[in-house]
Amino acid sequence: MRIPLSSPDITESEIEAVTSVLRTPRLSLGPKLEEFENSVASYTGAAHAIAVNSGTSGLHLCIRALGIAEGDEVIVPSFAFIAVANAVRYERAVPVFVDVDAKTLNLDPEKIETAVTPRTRAILVVHTFGCPADLSPIFSIARRRRLLVIEDACEAIGAEYEGRKVGPLGDAGVFGFYPNKQISLRQDERYGEGTWKRRTRPPAH
Ligand SMILES: Cc1ncc(COP(=O)(O)O)c(C=O)c1O
Repeated sequence: MRIPLSSPDITESEIEAVTSVLRTPRLSLGPKLEEFENSVASYTGAAHAIAVNSGTSGLHLCIRALGIAEGDEVIVPSFAFIAVANAVRYERAVPVFVDVDAKTLNLDPEKIETAVTPRTRAILVVHTFGCPADLSPIFSIARRRRLLVIEDACEAIGAEYEGRKVGPLGDAGVFGFYPNKQISLRQDERYGEGTWKRRTRPPAH
């Protein structure tokens, strides 16, 4: 049996939703955008959600908004989509690759600590293929070593870790909406595939 990694699941109701927008004069930055941001925030439990053009841009914004800059180090999984390392490089920071667990393909918390240096600012955790990363030990390292945690939940909207939706559990998180993701959106040069969100309150970890 072939199980596709992803395939489109578009019904008449999605087609109707798109055509109803095409019948209005607001094709960009309209009320649907705000509705989408609010629903992502309330569904995932995030304080805010901001839509941007792609998951890559969302990751880049997280890096920049958290003040990660030239020479800073960010721990990233050795197995991930290239955007993870690129987003760190866009700000001239340094991705430090840490091995993943062979079973989950997520960051192996036991391997993180030895990669931490005085220049480490953050751990960028990816929830690979919808499988939540083991966040508890990661948050405890982050707390002990005073590091930020960015969640790349591009492949994992709806996934839960210890009963809470992943994405808003760290300092900032990103969901992806490229057509191979759980939910796909129309691409637009400004708003569409990616959503970035940031907490206003300090993280719970
Ligand atoms: C884990 C992960 N991070 C980031 C991205 C980047 O998202 P986008 O393709 O929307 O730029 C993707 C998606 O392809 C992804 O799977």
